[in-house]
Amino acid sequence: MHIVLQPSEVDSSSLSESAPDNTSLEKIIFFHAEQGKPLATPWQVALTRSKMINKSALGKGIIVDCACGSGIQLAAHTAHLQRAAIGIELDSQRALASAVNLQTIAKSMGQQDSQRMNETRVLCGDGRDGKGALESLQTHLDLPQIPEVALLHLDPARPRNSRSHGLDEMAPRLDEVFAGWAPYLSAGKRGPSLLLDLSPRLSHEQRLQVEEMVDLVWPQIDRTWVWTSRGRGRVDRLALWLGSISIPNIARRFVRIPPNLQDKPLIVDGGESIQKGDGAPDKSKRPPRKGERVSLLDAALVESGLANVWLNSVTKSETIHWGVIEGRRPQIHHDHPLRLEGNNHLFVQATGRIATLAHMKLTLEDVDALVKVALDNDFQKLTVRVSLDPEVQPKVQGAIDRQLARRHGKRIGFVVQQPGDEMLLLCVLE
Ligand SMILES: C[S@@+](CC[C@H](N)C(=O)[O-])C[C@H]1O[C@@H](n2cnc3c(N)ncnc32)[C@H](O)[C@@H]1O
Repeated sequence: MHIVLQPSEVDSSSLSESAPDNTSLEKIIFFHAEQGKPLATPWQVALTRSKMINKSALGKGIIVDCACGSGIQLAAHTAHLQRAAIGIELDSQRALASAVNLQTIAKSMGQQDSQRMNETRVLCGDGRDGKGALESLQTHLDLPQIPEVALLHLDPARPRNSRSHGLDEMAPRLDEVFAGWAPYLSAGKRGPSLLLDLSPRLSHEQRLQVEEMVDLVWPQIDRTWVWTSRGRGRVDRLALWLGSISIPNIARRFVRIPPNLQDKPLIVDGGESIQKGDGAPDKSKRPPRKGERVSLLDAALVESGLANVWLNSVTKSETIHWGVIEGRRPQIHHDHPLRLEGNNHLFVQATGRIATLAHMKLTLEDVDALVKVALDNDFQKLTVRVSLDPEVQPKVQGAIDRQLARRHGKRIGFVVQQPGDEMLLLCVLE
């Protein structure tokens, strides 16, 4: 049996942790149970995601988050979709925090007495048990029949502090949740709707395994993989949108949440199904030439397999040569400048024109020689964008800055390494 909590009746006094969410414009205060805060979805991410759901494609029924943690994603879904919801959480204090947070969001919208909130509940119990949860809700609300589920959201807990983990370490497990809820999902325009919020650390093989598990229950269901990043080249979220909430004919979507909370997210759609490969571009190293362009792209965009789709939108039938694909500094070479309108510069760490090539390594001992080349080419500032030991990097940068500051160069630029070679490329910013 699940214990039923009504958001309008709960009291936050037993919850020890509360914190303003810095990603929300209003700095909303959310409550968390012990250790719940790091698991919670930032409000900006949650709301951006909910707003991407096409309301009219959903089937009948309520929204369910069957491992709702602090309830932040659920609060965003129910507020945007204007449907009643249930959150289910194994940990009783987290369930209580969810109920408090749902009420906070409803109040902030003046909707605490709305019909959707009158029918929204948090259940403390096992999120894998769809039948038990829905029967508890039916009894509690005295409904004539078991409610249908328009959208099932799942953000399972995974082992912390480990770089990789197996799918069977997710709690609750995907296959168990699918088995427990499949009979209750209503059909929307393109089948049932599920949003699986998975770990960004899943390997390509694990993503394929997730698809296999999905196909066992809903063969050939429409699907879109969605990578979300808040910057610094990191994928913060990797989700699989299924059925009626998938984006029609779109296999992959990359969402960059901009630093300015008022700006719209940048979205790149396209690519091929993950069944056809991980989407990594093909390497095509060629000797660098003075005058050509070098750009370091956002590593998260490259990881999503959508970098070439985006490049097509900012270049004109240009051949792109991929020098570096993996790691923090994916590097491309091209002939013309990128057309970075609007917020498109957020996908580029640096872009510029090669002013000169220098056959040398970059160590502290090489700085004098590099500064000489930089001065010969009229540089006033040169940012190091070469992968160096984190202890050495600030020392090298500091030494370059000090030496260039005493001279009178005019150009601002950056230095990168030619992949696989002892050659530095000094580039002028564009
Ligand atoms: C990553 S958190 C969810 C965070 C949530 N999306 C938010 O915005 O706050 C996953 C939650 O699943 C809960 N959980 C694990 N196994 C569960 C189960 N069998 N039933 C219900 N909840 C479970 C954990 O206690 C944890 O709070």
